[in-house]
Amino acid sequence: MPDITFRKATIEDIDTFIEIEKTAVGLKVYSGITDKEEAKEEIENNEVYFIIKDGEIVGSTEYQVKSQEEAYLGGLVIKPKFQDKGIARQAIEFRLNKVKDKKRVWLVTHPDNSKVIKLYLSYGFVIESRKENYYGDGEPRLVLARQK
Ligand SMILES: CC(C)(COP(=O)(O)OP(=O)(O)OC[C@H]1O[C@@H](n2cnc3c(N)ncnc32)[C@H](O)[C@@H]1OP(=O)(O)O)[C@@H](O)C(=O)NCCC(=O)NCCS
Repeated sequence: MPDITFRKATIEDIDTFIEIEKTAVGLKVYSGITDKEEAKEEIENNEVYFIIKDGEIVGSTEYQVKSQEEAYLGGLVIKPKFQDKGIARQAIEFRLNKVKDKKRVWLVTHPDNSKVIKLYLSYGFVIESRKENYYGDGEPRLVLARQK
């Protein structure tokens, strides 16, 4: 098990956040943020955390408390070099722990993102619905949710 820690991102971290998002840009299965203004809004409106391994930022992960009963799990990106080492799994557990009092936790992902789908299904999420052209880029997304 890698030794992973999490650090909350601030407005000072916009460039670092974009750098991580860029590693996933161009993938059909992920809609990354490359615009500074958009990145600023993302950090201001979500709980964005950097994932750190041996002092190095290896990815980022987000969640958003929508209400007293509901939380949304947003972006999750692991830099390619650090993928398939169980780091995303730890980031999912970190966020699920943060929102453990919520009745409903949900996220969206591309139907071809089998890695992500498999990971969340293993934590009791179910595929709730499919939405066409979810982000306006012509690509569909699945809504995955876990209810208490
Ligand atoms: C998706 C992503 C976050 C996964 O990160 P990761 O650190 O490589 O994931 P992990 O190593 O924790 O887990 C990968 C799991 O998928 C499995 N897996 C690997 N390739 C797979 C594939 N092609 N299909 C299905 N499962 C696969 C692994 O066996 C592992 O499962 P296990 O924990 O049960 O052994 C990473 O690939 C990424 O950043 N992708 C680009 C951005 C993205 O799509 N983000 C998700 C948005 S919702």
